[in-house]
Amino acid sequence: MNVSKHFTIISAICRVALASPSEALLFQIERLQKALEEGGLTPESKSLRALLMKAERSSEMAPRKLVPSRARSLPGEVLLPSTHLPADKETGARLVEVIFPDQLSTELPIFPDEFVRAMTQVVNEWRNGEELSKLGILPTSSCLLVGPPGTGKTSLAYWLAGQLGLPVVLARIDAMMSSFLGTSARNIAQVFSFANRFRCILVLDEFDSLAKMRDDPNEVGEIKRVVNALLQNLDNRKDSGVTIGITNHPKLLDTAVWRRFSAQIEVPLPDFKTRLVIAKLYSQPLEISEPELKFIAALLDGCSGAEIEDFLIAYKKRCVLPPAAPSPLAALRDIATLNSGRLSSPLRAVLFQSDTELMGWLRHNDYFELSLSDTSKIVRKGKSTVSRKTK
Ligand SMILES: Nc1ncnc2c1ncn2[C@@H]1O[C@H](COP(=O)(O)OP(=O)(O)OP(=O)(O)O)[C@@H](O)[C@H]1O
Ligand SMILES: [Mg+2]
Repeated sequence: MNVSKHFTIISAICRVALASPSEALLFQIERLQKALEEGGLTPESKSLRALLMKAERSSEMAPRKLVPSRARSLPGEVLLPSTHLPADKETGARLVEVIFPDQLSTELPIFPDEFVRAMTQVVNEWRNGEELSKLGILPTSSCLLVGPPGTGKTSLAYWLAGQLGLPVVLARIDAMMSSFLGTSARNIAQVFSFANRFRCILVLDEFDSLAKMRDDPNEVGEIKRVVNALLQNLDNRKDSGVTIGITNHPKLLDTAVWRRFSAQIEVPLPDFKTRLVIAKLYSQPLEISEPELKFIAALLDGCSGAEIEDFLIAYKKRCVLPPAAPSPLAALRDIATLNSGRLSSPLRAVLFQSDTELMGWLRHNDYFELSLSDTSKIVRKGKSTVSRKTK
């Protein structure tokens, strides 16, 4: 095909597409521009270059609130919305996502008090890295967040970054894995060299995909290359910035990778007190009574924050949509039936025992003790009935 002859059409397509540019599009147009240049089609290549530069300029002008960084000791250039992000050479798929500080939540997920204190300590270290360095002490520059699914690990990593006023460079290990031999290791190197160049927090999420790959006997050579690339890059990153790794299954992670992180933080499943605060948070804007919330928090023993959120959403729907439930207990039984997989068998049994037995349980159990009046509100029976049946 004679490219020059049809170039006006090609250029028009590029111009229209660049009205809402994505990283993959920019990458492909840049590839075309380079191919034209190498093919000696200089005017066409220059014309595409001009279109690309115009698109970059207009995205640079996109408004973004600047949040001052509080981690002054970190080196590197400032990441901008217009910064070109690394992409897989074969597919053009983006390898990282950037989340700027003004998009990061300032709310710490709900955790037990001692855990919050430990996290505040990590933030303090990072904020005061310069003072520590003067004393010859290096602040913790890498940590691994480990814990069951839905416990708030990713949210915690974003909060930590937000506390430092730095953007997150989010790299999912599975996005870096390529079906092309050798490309995964090259992708890892690309991601690290990008993160090392800019002032940012590198978040390596879903480390578990490494383990999935290990189950496949065809991948033995490739997984070795990937682990080696990770080890090498983690070692080199030590002085360049903060890295947070996230995994659900620490045991499946190569021990050499695991050891590279100077802090290993276990994000726990919430205890009763924490479940109560999480349930209260997600009960809003409805005003669900404290005894009801306590009952819910007790029933959800063993659930993650994300599961508590889902349960509360379902419960709120049940509370506001007709037909009205005859009592909070009846509403809870309906929702528990729909979420039976979330409740442990003993606690499901508690909920579905006879009303008399349940009233006795509400008055005295391992989690809380309700007054006569609160128990009567949950089961919608008179106080005298509750008193008689729970003697
Ligand atoms: N401790 C918590 N406090 C408040 N909300 C929470 C908590 N844990 C989880 N959530 C809710 O669940 C959502 C999912 O949490 P998040 O993605 O951070 O969990 P995760 O541990 O990274 O899960 P996964 O292992 O599946 O990636 C959060 O956006 C939040 O709404
Ligand atoms: Mg996560």
